[in-house]
Amino acid sequence: MLQLLHRWIWRDPERRARKLLTFAETEADGGRDLVRAAELTEDPTLRRLFTVHAADEERHAQLFRTRGAALLHSLKGRSSTPFELNWVSPGERGLDDLRVHAESDAGLLAFLHLSEKAAAGHFATYVDALKDDPPTSSVFSQVLKDENFHMNYTLAQLTRVAPERHSLLLWKARLSRLWKAYLRAASAIAGVMGTVILTLQYFILLPPFALLAKHTERREPQGWVPVPPENKRKLESQY
Ligand SMILES: [Fe+2]
Ligand SMILES: [Fe+2]
Repeated sequence: MLQLLHRWIWRDPERRARKLLTFAETEADGGRDLVRAAELTEDPTLRRLFTVHAADEERHAQLFRTRGAALLHSLKGRSSTPFELNWVSPGERGLDDLRVHAESDAGLLAFLHLSEKAAAGHFATYVDALKDDPPTSSVFSQVLKDENFHMNYTLAQLTRVAPERHSLLLWKARLSRLWKAYLRAASAIAGVMGTVILTLQYFILLPPFALLAKHTERREPQGWVPVPPENKRKLESQY
């Protein structure tokens, strides 16, 4: 069922191109955060791994950008589906939420491990959903190999730097991801509610004012109106 939904989401070529370009931005942004993480850590092994990881994310950004741009250029007309539906089929979403300064090495590794695991799961689904577009499917296959490596090295390093606390840190990171998912859903619902309430206000509250304005307009004299001489005008009046 979910596979069918993903196939439908990726079927529209314009949506496919736009999603790839959005994914490229997330990957590039994550790459920059990982460079910062490499600068901040005092652990030489982590510094090396974060640098390799950052280069991987930059390469993913390049792959998504190139394929997205090629798809966009090959389009003959514009489609009627502007929505990317990234809340159903996201990119490497966890990289969006990286807070490199606020986390310890172990906390960052736990968060990265869960994000990479989720991304690997999503990208494996997209490889299959995009079977009819082999070049795009192959982009996801290439990226998936790296995501699996990211998922594995982050867990191995987490177990090394926090051997006793690693499961606790993973649970903490899981709860933090859950909270962020709730916030994303709540702000989406608030957006829909805001649109509905403002539309209702427009159609229910504005018409009486429009009618009142029309009624007042009818009572106004038409054309030029004689102005009383200077000495008969009230002092507090503007005219
Ligand atoms: Fe990536
Ligand atoms: Fe990754």
